[in-house]
Amino acid sequence: MPETRIVILDALTYAGNLTTLSEDLADPRVRFYPGKIQDATVVEGILKAEGVTHLVNFAAESHNDRAMMEAGSFIQTDVYGVYVLLEACRKFKLSRFLHVSTDEVYGSIDQGDFSESSPIEPNTPYSASKAGGELQIRAAIKAHGIPAVVTRGGNTYGPYHFPEKLIPFFITRLIDGKRVPVYGDGSQVREWIHCEDHAGGILHALLHGKDGETYNVGDRNERRNMEVVKILLEETGRDESFIKAIPDPRRGAHDKRYSMTTEKLNALGWSPQKPFESSLRETVAWYKERQDWWRPLVATDDYRSFVEAFYGPSLGEDL
Ligand code: DAU
Repeated sequence: MPETRIVILDALTYAGNLTTLSEDLADPRVRFYPGKIQDATVVEGILKAEGVTHLVNFAAESHNDRAMMEAGSFIQTDVYGVYVLLEACRKFKLSRFLHVSTDEVYGSIDQGDFSESSPIEPNTPYSASKAGGELQIRAAIKAHGIPAVVTRGGNTYGPYHFPEKLIPFFITRLIDGKRVPVYGDGSQVREWIHCEDHAGGILHALLHGKDGETYNVGDRNERRNMEVVKILLEETGRDESFIKAIPDPRRGAHDKRYSMTTEKLNALGWSPQKPFESSLRETVAWYKERQDWWRPLVATDDYRSFVEAFYGPSLGEDL
């Protein structure tokens, strides 16, 4: 859609990185504002100045392990921030509000799949914050008729991923010859989707979803963590001595398995395109190639102090 303009509001927290957007920001149709979604003055000022019609909320505190240590910032962004956006949608009568949520709001499932009508039963401080945001949306749809759509995405991987989640954290450590901390026996199952497919699903729901509906965005690639780790070891030329099994730091909150059906979005004409294993191998190649992108991120005091505080005792000298 060549006539579309994109306005970005980003708090540039520890996981934000403007260099990721450098090519996009050179396009005159793209405008960037630094700021938080919790700041109503900033949000409303932008909607007014830019004449925004469609609002997509990608903003979130998103890392389960950080929320195990401190969940207040998650409530601020993932619950209160969503409320601020909804109020702004209401005031400026936007045509659509799309909220990017997560399959983690369903909780864990041993067998079978979650569908969009499954109950919301989050188990982690992070997923509870995302569920809280979703409940704000549910209420805003009913109380104020906000034209909102929610997407619930699976575990996402690909380039430009901040090195804290399993895949980018492990790739960057393995490239550096450091051991990788597998929680427990690594038998948890996650359903993986490439970031381009996830973004395509969100765009499809934005353009073709129905007001008030929720859509799962997944790719049916279920893998045990240890299966994923073995591919990463292979691609970085490391052997199994680089695996360090540690007592599960997520304790009782660690979901065993995620799995969801996607027929609802498929029926609107969307399907993911990227094959898991070869795309994961390409992702490792990307991190080998783009060390200029991630090395500054892992060298910050915030990054080092999080890794030290969260993994310190178990990773020891590998920090
Ligand atoms: O399912 C969607 C969700 O996927 C998103 O909503 C979250 O924002 C995103 O962080 C992700 O949540 P997970 O907690 O599943 O992702 P993470 O990459 O942190 O962990 C994936 C699995 O790997 C999980 O079973 C825990 C395990 N793990 C993770 C880390 C960081 C380890 O064994 N060691 C680690 O160091």
